[in-house]
This record gives sequence, C-alpha cells and structure tokens, in this order.
Amino acid sequence: MMRISLGTIVAALAAGTFAVGAHAQSAAPSANKGNISMCIGCHGIAEYHTAFPEVYHVPRIAGQSPQYIVKALQSYRSGERSHPSMRGIARTLSDQDIASLASYYGGSGK
Ligand code: HEC
Repeated sequence: MMRISLGTIVAALAAGTFAVGAHAQSAAPSANKGNISMCIGCHGIAEYHTAFPEVYHVPRIAGQSPQYIVKALQSYRSGERSHPSMRGIARTLSDQDIASLASYYGGSGK
C-alpha cells in the first residue's frame, strides 16, 4: 500500500522549503504560501499559457537558477523590466519574499 499522490509530494516539498525559510527568519509571519499560489495562476499551468484576461505565453520559472529568478523579480520591481503583469506583482514582494520564491522555484525541477 505505497500509493503516494502527486499532491502529497508537492505538499511535502513545499513544507520542506517553508521550514528552511522559517528557520532563516522566524520572527516574520510567512506570506509565502499566498505568494506561491499567486504565481501558479500564471506560471504553473500546462503549456504555460494564460487563459485570462487573454491567452499569452508565460515563461517557465520552475527549475531556473535562484539567482536568475531574484534578478528577474528585482528588475520587474524596479521597472527595468516592464511587463505589466509581472511589474504589478513584483511591486508587492519584499526582498524576503523574492528570496523565498527564488529558492522555491529555483530548487524544484532540477
Ligand atoms: C498575471 C500572470 C502572472 C502572474 C500571476 C505571475 N507571473 Fe511571472 N510572468 C508572467 C509573464 C507574462 C512573464 C513574461 C514577462 C516578460 O515577457 O517580461 C513573467 C515572467 C516572470 C519571470 C521571468 C522569467 C524569465 O524567463 O525571464 C519570473 C522570474 C517570474 N515571472 C516570476 C513570478 C513569480 C515568482 C510570481 C508570483 C509571485 C509570478 N511570476 C506571477 C506572468 C505572471
């Protein structure tokens, strides 16, 4: 009876990642779960195309290097990279959020 669902594995991976994050900054309440589900809306879908508000291509971020993800998010936040959706999102992220997201996505799929 060793049936392990994909959901279980994903939950276990997420729990591991958050445990590490919590260790690094235990005082701050974690909003990372919300941040990650926010990204999944666009970055976690089959074929990496959005369905709303219009169909467009979304780059795959899972498995990118964490440094690359940090740099991309900081560039969107500063306006150096100017995609409207990503800019709006990056502006809501703190440096800590960006670091956690980068290790979450950068650590998966490798
Ligand atoms: C509304 C849809 C949407 C949401 C939600 C979203 N993204 Fe994006 N993201 C995009 C699109 C579209 C691009 C490509 C933008 C461009 O061409 O510059 C992108 C690009 C990126 C890139 C750069 C990828 C590359 O290859 O250069 C990173 C990193 C990224 N997003 C991370 C995130 C993270 C982390 C979150 C959650 C906090 C998130 N995104 C939420 C639509 C979204």
